[in-house]
Amino acid sequence: MKLMCGNANRPLAQAIADYLDAPLSNVDIETFADGELFVRIDENMRGEDVFIIQSTSKPANDNLMELLICMDALTRASARRITAVIPYFGYARQDRKTGGRTPITAKLVANLIAGAGAHRVLTLDLHAGQIQGFFDIPTDNLFATPVFEQDIRAHYDVKDLMIVSPDVGGVVRARSLAGRLGADIAIVDKRRPRPGMSEVMNIIGEVEGRNCIIFDDIIDSGGTLCNAAAALKERGAKEVSAYITHGVLSGEAVKKIANSEMKELVVTDSIDSTKKLETATNIRSRSVAPLLAEAIRRIANDESVSKLFD
Ligand code: R5P
Repeated sequence: MKLMCGNANRPLAQAIADYLDAPLSNVDIETFADGELFVRIDENMRGEDVFIIQSTSKPANDNLMELLICMDALTRASARRITAVIPYFGYARQDRKTGGRTPITAKLVANLIAGAGAHRVLTLDLHAGQIQGFFDIPTDNLFATPVFEQDIRAHYDVKDLMIVSPDVGGVVRARSLAGRLGADIAIVDKRRPRPGMSEVMNIIGEVEGRNCIIFDDIIDSGGTLCNAAAALKERGAKEVSAYITHGVLSGEAVKKIANSEMKELVVTDSIDSTKKLETATNIRSRSVAPLLAEAIRRIANDESVSKLFD
């Protein structure tokens, strides 16, 4: 087995390598004056089972191209099997036509990844489970729920919790975490009048006097989360915290969370947010490196991956 990574999230790739006690192969990635990328893998890959770790996070297009070009180099270097390990799969939110003459980027990017030479994909908390079916190659979609469950049990009184989905699309995810914790669920009825803007219409469930944990896949601008937290507080929630897998944290998101009524937000390191979190007062990060590493180990040994979530 060989491990390698692009530039999207080196700390996570290193943590995975440390867990597996395997080195990261040296890859030379250079940018030409016109912005085009050049990749050279510095060791023999012939006949190897290669795992390339690269989130397609911001800058999404550069990171995606790095992944594609690395896989092309691996194919031409005669790697036996290439697994694209994509802890954060960007472009996933455009998973259906939202109007006339609009694209489905999740499918387009899935096609690009397979076309560039991936034999398998390993990813985490896809925006919607059915995106797995956009790939015509085996795709394992891991869940951060066990990592979050452990953290919640260590920091909260689980007898008293209500898990809240910040929109109808996240209900299955919220129900799964609530099930593991034996907690109730509530649902925020969110509307998006236009991209990047969200409004809370209603809350389904009795949240008065409850300790609420909002559970979502992505925090981008922070609008969805802060609006949901404010609506929960307005309806009498005692305390509001949030667990969100992918900390995109664009623009003023960190400031918004600091100024919100939320006790804290916990994200994972699927996206490298080290710099952003330096100034954050109420955001913590939990690593998914052991989870991803264990899945890589199981794929390499042809063992069950779903057993990780039993
Ligand atoms: C939407 O369906 C996603 O699950 C997230 O709720 C959304 O992407 C968060 O975006 P923002 O933080 O910009 O509101």
